[in-house]
Amino acid sequence: MKILGIESSCDETAAAVVEDGRKVLSNVIATSLNEHKIYGGVVPEIASRRHAESISGVVEQALKDANCTMDDIEAVAVTYAPGLIGSLLVGVGFAKGLALACEKPLVPVHHLRGHIASNYISSDIEPPFLCLVVSGGHSHIVAVKSYTDFEVIGKTRDDAAGEALDKAGRTMKLEYPGGVSIDRISPQGDENAFAFPKPRVANSPYDYSFSGLKTVVINIVHNAEQKGESINIPDLAASFQKSVVDCLLSNFESAARDFGYTKLVIAGGVSANSRLRSQAEKMCKKNGWSLTIPELKYCGDNAAMIASQGYFEYKNGVSAQENLNAYATMPLDNLHY
Ligand code: KG4
Ligand code: ZN
Repeated sequence: MKILGIESSCDETAAAVVEDGRKVLSNVIATSLNEHKIYGGVVPEIASRRHAESISGVVEQALKDANCTMDDIEAVAVTYAPGLIGSLLVGVGFAKGLALACEKPLVPVHHLRGHIASNYISSDIEPPFLCLVVSGGHSHIVAVKSYTDFEVIGKTRDDAAGEALDKAGRTMKLEYPGGVSIDRISPQGDENAFAFPKPRVANSPYDYSFSGLKTVVINIVHNAEQKGESINIPDLAASFQKSVVDCLLSNFESAARDFGYTKLVIAGGVSANSRLRSQAEKMCKKNGWSLTIPELKYCGDNAAMIASQGYFEYKNGVSAQENLNAYATMPLDNLHY
């Protein structure tokens, strides 16, 4: 069964065809990332405009690369939440029109469920497992009980890990996205050069808080500027990255222990981070747990992950009408559409 997936929740316009939830037949991505760089972050209006310009060509290319036409497609899966509302609406509007015109079912997909599904196209892992979902907008520990049954065990109370990395990167005057730049320059620095506090969220061992760590970076940089001192940026980047990764993994490890999970999975844009990948590997080895992380090309936003999750949702009876809306926020374990 071939599913066409469409993704436009942030600055990537993407379409893909995936067979039976796991076999990627095509995966096309157009991004407006370079246009956002000079602003230090995604400008929603620019992203929406570029989605509107690119989407039909991207979908056409995805069908062409997969060597198929809409006749071969069983259903159209689309990211409908969460994300930038203007961006989401372009994908949802296009998917609705296409599904209606071609008389195909329309399957709404939650973006973070899609990130989790990026592991189904990179490996043969099956639920149940415990997943750390770390992206620009979210940091969640999720019990994945089945392909369509999820429970959020912990989440960030303020900034997401990716957001904190991006903001810290901006303070260090590194190129956007800061997470990528920090990963790139950290090997040149000493990760023990700066000491960061270990944030704890009261009465909640699995929740995260990253805004305090980000503020420490801002204070270090501003204090140095005021005193006219220079800072070793690779040292600061490496130390900050270490503190974010330690924090992510420490709660993830506690949750796996407490809930008895031995299959661990990581997903989302930040899962591309080399320190997170290597430290998670060590942690799982030490505990005798298995670890699954997406291939690098499926860590960031893509539509193959949406087509994959769309397949499992569709098999579970999920489909939407032509009045499907897009939502900027939506919990991944309690959907409405
Ligand atoms: O999942 P994603 O592509 O988009 C959202 O759904 O938010 O995640 C984007 C986030 C950004 O914050 C970016 O800085 C971060 O993922 N990111 C990384 C790396 N690659 C992307 N963070 C750390 N290290 C990386 N290698
Ligand atoms: Zn994402």
